[in-house]
Amino acid sequence: MQAAGTDVRRYLELGLRNRWWPLLPSALVGDAPAGITRLGEKLVVWRAGGGGVVVQEDYCPHRGVPLSRGTNCGDRLRCAYHHVEVGADGTVLRVPGEPGSKLAGRQVVRTYPALECKGAIFAYFGDALHREPVPFNVPFQLQDDGPYDAFLCYAEWPTFWRYLYDNNMDPMHGTFLHAKSHSMFAGATEAAFRTRETPTGFFVEKEAQRDTNFDWSELVDDGSLYARLEIPYPASGGPGGNFGIISYATPIDERTTAAFFWRTRKVSGWQRDVWRFLYKNRLEARHWAVLEQDRGMLGDCEPGLERHEHLYGHDVGVVNLRRHLMREARAQLTALEGAGAL
Ligand code: FES
Ligand SMILES: [Fe+2]
Repeated sequence: MQAAGTDVRRYLELGLRNRWWPLLPSALVGDAPAGITRLGEKLVVWRAGGGGVVVQEDYCPHRGVPLSRGTNCGDRLRCAYHHVEVGADGTVLRVPGEPGSKLAGRQVVRTYPALECKGAIFAYFGDALHREPVPFNVPFQLQDDGPYDAFLCYAEWPTFWRYLYDNNMDPMHGTFLHAKSHSMFAGATEAAFRTRETPTGFFVEKEAQRDTNFDWSELVDDGSLYARLEIPYPASGGPGGNFGIISYATPIDERTTAAFFWRTRKVSGWQRDVWRFLYKNRLEARHWAVLEQDRGMLGDCEPGLERHEHLYGHDVGVVNLRRHLMREARAQLTALEGAGAL
């Protein structure tokens, strides 16, 4: 039996499972453990000796208080409450108040597969039937040895995570909302859109205009879920051709989102230096201004905007995105229900 639509929608409020999601910029996790919530789950993020990043559920196996309030002892976390120690694989290593305790040696703290990519910490969120991670296929523009350079921009918005994907799959808002920006002033204000399936998602694109404004976007669901898009730059934007964005929006909870935007440019050598200089001195502020326009529209919208919508032709990307998410979520939920694993 297939899971019911209302159950699938509720399930989707905390994102899709069996995928990698970015959690935090790497720079926000130093020596001390960081306590955060992502996909509705409380997590502690810390660096084990040697710098390897560890992501675990943020509950001490003794009395359930946050491990993130404890101390990073290099290869383990020590809970502040009674100093129980937990290793990077989730095993209780020491119970100082009761030597010989049966708790010692048990691997009871859930530990998430984790990695770092281009300045962000990612973790794999598997459901009860998929604890082993799928491969993390690094977006082409974020590959370390690839031809692109990238800056990460991070923001937390008090809004439903899917609205950020809706926004990315709606290229037409560039022409209107961002008409006064440095890069989205050109081209027609009318357009017809089509979608095109790919092995990992789909494109939404204008039929009659390319490389003039925000004219297309791609949803990629390939071990992680992100949008990829390009916006042409005027000559004053320096070398490197179109400006690219890789965009993730990780649910914190049903109403809060951690947004990751990598701004990318195909540059190397001196062109890379020019781009990095221009970005830091001129472009970054302009990009934040554009992002503020998006935040003005979506930054604190309550869930359930769909009840007020009357979609038209431009929204074919939004419709396709929601269909994709519903299909994936329904499959997960149906499998979990079938296995009695909810
Ligand atoms: S609650 Fe953590 S050691 Fe007791
Ligand atoms: Fe926008």
